[in-house]
Amino acid sequence: MTSYPEGFLWGGATADFQYEGGFNEGGRGLLSHDFETAGSAEKTRQISLKLKDGSRGTVDYRASLPDGAEACLYDDIYYPSHQGTDFYHHWQEDIKLMAEMGFKTYRFSICWSRIYPNGDEVKPNEEGLQFYDKVIDELLKYKIEPLITICHDELPYHLCKEYDGWSSRYVIDCYVKYAQTLFERYKGKVKYWLTFNEINAVGGYAQIGTHKQDHQTHYQAVHHMFVASSRAIKIGHELMPNAMFGTMFALSEIYPATCDPEDIFAAYCKRRESLFFADVMARGEYPNYTHEIFTRKNVQLHKEPGDDELIKLYPLDFVSFSYYRSTTANKNSDFDIMGGDVNPYCELTKWGWPVDPLGLRFCLNRLYDRYQKPLFVIENGLGALDEVEADGSIHDTYRIEYLAKHLQQIRDAITIDKVDCFGYTMWGNTDLVSLGTGEMKKRYGFVYVDMDDQGNGTLKRSKKDSFDWYKKVIATNGSDLDY
Ligand code: BG6
Repeated sequence: MTSYPEGFLWGGATADFQYEGGFNEGGRGLLSHDFETAGSAEKTRQISLKLKDGSRGTVDYRASLPDGAEACLYDDIYYPSHQGTDFYHHWQEDIKLMAEMGFKTYRFSICWSRIYPNGDEVKPNEEGLQFYDKVIDELLKYKIEPLITICHDELPYHLCKEYDGWSSRYVIDCYVKYAQTLFERYKGKVKYWLTFNEINAVGGYAQIGTHKQDHQTHYQAVHHMFVASSRAIKIGHELMPNAMFGTMFALSEIYPATCDPEDIFAAYCKRRESLFFADVMARGEYPNYTHEIFTRKNVQLHKEPGDDELIKLYPLDFVSFSYYRSTTANKNSDFDIMGGDVNPYCELTKWGWPVDPLGLRFCLNRLYDRYQKPLFVIENGLGALDEVEADGSIHDTYRIEYLAKHLQQIRDAITIDKVDCFGYTMWGNTDLVSLGTGEMKKRYGFVYVDMDDQGNGTLKRSKKDSFDWYKKVIATNGSDLDY
């Protein structure tokens, strides 16, 4: 075999609050992300607040909320999640374009507050389920395998406000009920499920719903997500014996800045700290080095009897990850899991992300060496400024080159290193709003959406040059990656 394996799952990926919109339609409840403002590379996104004294305020989207403050919407602020790029009203057109490219799969997230508007109702919102019924049936009509992210860094707002999000065990029950609702509705139609998105990188009120963002709160919240994931997998397998469950991890290869043994050890420890989450979920137990991390970060985890057994009994069936960039570390590096120091050997994107295709082969090998479970590259792509020419064409050669080089590395990992990788979903196949900056101009798609950073535009869809290129890649099952 010199190319991708037969049946390889080619496709694209999106997240509801960046893409779907329709925030006050179909009975959808408020979502944690609905309070996030737009930002830019220079200006961090904010959560708009009502402060303790009733006045207006804002806070950095990854920071703790001031005491007594609550998220609040204001009419004169633009909130990107409210419209996304309007998949809610363009789903047929967008899925048709995916089918035209030959997608074998489409990864999307269900909006939790569309199914349980407050997160803890007795019965789900039937209108919300009907929306996803239509989406899933449309995908199946084109033989596109739906791949569902149950929770993409979000919660119904009510669960954040009243229960402090994932810091509360109550939210585990709410999540499990929500997941079970999806399994019962879509069994027989959906085989691949992700319990969470980028669980090793989540943080901030909008993503985990906790008012405070210290290490203790964070690791406790993530422990609850581990338990929730295993409980969902248990029920999922009972209801759908053939289903496969993953969770998504944000990976970036972390290189030592020099061959000084201290730098090498520092990079090793940073990488391990990021892989901690996958270690727990793929191997089914907290690793030995948890002690070092928790001691250094002053975390005292509270576990209930049975938590460890559950995590052990219901680990992930496959490991999926996002890969956009690599990074470096040295003995003095002081960055968190998603940070990193620059690498002079790598070019930077306009948003300062180092481009390193070989780092993807590293990651695939590292994960396969470590877990021996099937892998899925569930996000990869280039956020770039696209220019629309006078005739409406968009020549995104830079995106094609970026994707081609990364796909070559996956091919080498599969064919030379014999890594078991069964799918690739390019991030943001239809343009959507950036998670990190809330901008529209940071575009990833094969399909351009006419909308600006303030949500203005016709929302018209048009094909970029990368559209036909990816169509060719899928048609040749990855053997023609020329660009
Ligand atoms: C991943 C997220 O972290 O990176 C996506 O799962 C996100 O939601 C993607 O959009 C790219 O990041 P950004 O900040 O460029 O949108």
